[in-house]
Amino acid sequence: MVLPLILCVVLSTAHCAVQDYGAYDPVRDAFLPGSFPDSFIWSTSTSAYQIEGAWNVDSKGESIWDRFSHTPGKVDCGDTGDVACDSYNKYREDVQLMKAMGLKYYRFSLSWTRILPDGTVAGGVNQDGVDYYNNVINELIANDITPMVTLYHWDLPQALQDRYGGWVNETMVQLYHDYVSFAFKSFGDRVKLWLTFNDSKIVCNNGYLTGQHAPGIQDRSQLSSYLCGHNILKAHAKAWHTYNTTFRASQDGKVGITVSLDWAEPRDPDLPADVAAADYYMQVSNSQFAHPIYVNGDYPPDFKILVQKLKQALPDKNVPDFSDEEKASIRGSSDFFGLNHYTSCIVGHRDTPAGKGPLDNINITRSPEWRRAATDWLYAVPWGMRRVLKYIKETFGDPEVYITENGWSDGDVTPPVMEDTDRICYYMTYIDEVLKAIMYDKVKVRAYTAWSIMDNMEWETGYTQRFGMHCHLHGPEPASGTQAVFKVLQGHHRQQRLP
Ligand code: BGC
Repeated sequence: MVLPLILCVVLSTAHCAVQDYGAYDPVRDAFLPGSFPDSFIWSTSTSAYQIEGAWNVDSKGESIWDRFSHTPGKVDCGDTGDVACDSYNKYREDVQLMKAMGLKYYRFSLSWTRILPDGTVAGGVNQDGVDYYNNVINELIANDITPMVTLYHWDLPQALQDRYGGWVNETMVQLYHDYVSFAFKSFGDRVKLWLTFNDSKIVCNNGYLTGQHAPGIQDRSQLSSYLCGHNILKAHAKAWHTYNTTFRASQDGKVGITVSLDWAEPRDPDLPADVAAADYYMQVSNSQFAHPIYVNGDYPPDFKILVQKLKQALPDKNVPDFSDEEKASIRGSSDFFGLNHYTSCIVGHRDTPAGKGPLDNINITRSPEWRRAATDWLYAVPWGMRRVLKYIKETFGDPEVYITENGWSDGDVTPPVMEDTDRICYYMTYIDEVLKAIMYDKVKVRAYTAWSIMDNMEWETGYTQRFGMHCHLHGPEPASGTQAVFKVLQGHHRQQRLP
């Protein structure tokens, strides 16, 4: 794909001048015209709970997000994923949207409870759920679109939460293994790209520490969130090994994991204390999952210090370390690096910690010049994309990188914004930084996936935030949506999804 120089320059000067600490940097921010390799994968992404709807039809079991969103006060405006984009019924239209955009790949997730209603194979397979995913996969392939499947995008079976306490319980490792083995066996003849988990940091921190996400556990001691991450890492590794030994020879696919990395820019790159603070952020906030898998089977050094502190704070609790066997199993358990990247921050040292949290000993800010999306944590910092890609190359052993998410949100305004300049600016500038990472830094980026093909259920903020390239309808008002990255040259207006 040749990036459109003229359009971007026009857009950059008009709306999206990139500022670092308030200043446009002509070297850092210069647009690089050029082409991506022919083999480069262009894709968009969704997840089951966010788009499928049909939460309780055809024997689907309840997930923790069904329960959570049905609990008053948990999701903005009382929104739920009960209908969402209705992709359970409209998946053929979704595929046509992709086809119209010239897409050749699509990343989506499986709903565990649509396949195994109580989360276990012993509890019975729901053939309607298996049929649904067979239909989606076959429809994609019939339209020359390659499926990329996430096995876990946050919608744990409620039955496993009730019975075992969810991810804090090590039993989940085997239960997850049984589920993914079933998925490999059922769909692996056609699915060649798998992601075991999507952004586990959010699963554990939002689900088991702050309680902002399902299952809504607030354990401020940080034990639950730590156990959650520990078990997810073991579950990921076990799934990868099973694929490797049992399915790879016949199915010839790849299995990775998606981790989310923000970029932390040192406040003053010439000040060692600020450089150390930014490095601390990258280790503690960003590498809990990547470091064990891509470096040495264990947590990064600064994270390990936090684990020691947790042990000291909770002497009566079991705060496990990885055994040597577990480390050996986790290290190298990925065929590529799945990256979700949206935004960056500026990190400096702090003389006096602001509190007792893991990040309270550093100073985290954003430039007032950075454009901010409707989503409060999302600032446009295109050059952060290049830096995070280079960081991955240098820190995690130069893996093949599949960007599995990147995107921009609008607010829920009436009438919905259909002119999509902000999102286009975001995509154009971020994608150009991917090109720079490939051409200048020789990062092995193989795929770019935009979030999302259409507006969808944005977790605890419901439908108030719109990440989509296309509209969908929810209630009487058309939701926003856009057609951006791949058709960006053909006009920059959103399109409404078929009602
Ligand atoms: C998640 C998506 C979410 C997006 C925007 C990602 O990390 O995987 O499910 O919609 O962030 O918040």
